[in-house]
Amino acid sequence: MSAGRRPIISGNWKMNFDHFEAIHAARALGLRLASADVAGVDVTVHPPFTDLRSVQTVVEAEEVPVVLGAQNCAVEDSGAFTGEVSPLMLARLHVGYVIVGHSERRRLFGETDDLVAAKAASVVRNGMVPVCCVGETETEREEGMTRDRLASQVDAVAVSLGPSAVGASVVAYEPVWAIGSGRAATPEDAQEACGWIREVIGMVAGDEAAATVRIQYGGSVTPENTSALLEGADVDGLLVGGASLDVAAFVAIVQAAAGVPA
Ligand code: 13P
Repeated sequence: MSAGRRPIISGNWKMNFDHFEAIHAARALGLRLASADVAGVDVTVHPPFTDLRSVQTVVEAEEVPVVLGAQNCAVEDSGAFTGEVSPLMLARLHVGYVIVGHSERRRLFGETDDLVAAKAASVVRNGMVPVCCVGETETEREEGMTRDRLASQVDAVAVSLGPSAVGASVVAYEPVWAIGSGRAATPEDAQEACGWIREVIGMVAGDEAAATVRIQYGGSVTPENTSALLEGADVDGLLVGGASLDVAAFVAIVQAAAGVPA
């Protein structure tokens, strides 16, 4: 972490928790997260779409110190796009952050760099912050393609957003092989990739954007590996999958992040 950038810990619930379970989880977060825990850390939770309104209600009524997030959105604000979810409608629910380009969406639903870049721009146009996911597959890593793959993913988003929106965005480095595998990247590998992502942003969007963009690491994050992963100067936060479904574990991750000196 670095003193100039506020750390951000995000919980991606993926396709878990119906709206009853989501209400329960949001309440539990409110009971366990103390204001001291979040004084220096942004915390976001990204429930499934069908839970958003319920979680919004709990977060606002019970002053749970998290910002509501979504996991995906459409490019267009409205129209004949059966089954899509509008970024404008997410903004109306006080969603603050939208994940775009998660590797599960790229791999399972065919999302391309261009589509992800267009989604990121729609999120910004609607006043929200995109959490733009990038990361190499195991094969790309073995073939020595990690830097190239990250550069093309980051370049697509940075060109689409332009310097000032890039600087206000979040990029999540999630190596595909580390997601859900129990095999987190080493702190050194996470720092190296996040440092490279910042370098690419500097080349495409300029030094100011590179200095302010926040870069998360994601992939098998646990309370135990949080502090070490956040030691890297270019690792500004974490995108947490499985461990975010366990409220106690997620709160422990936030608390560990709050305790890491910048
Ligand atoms: P895990 O933390 O379960 O590995 O998932 C990471 C992830 O994909 C978060 O978006």
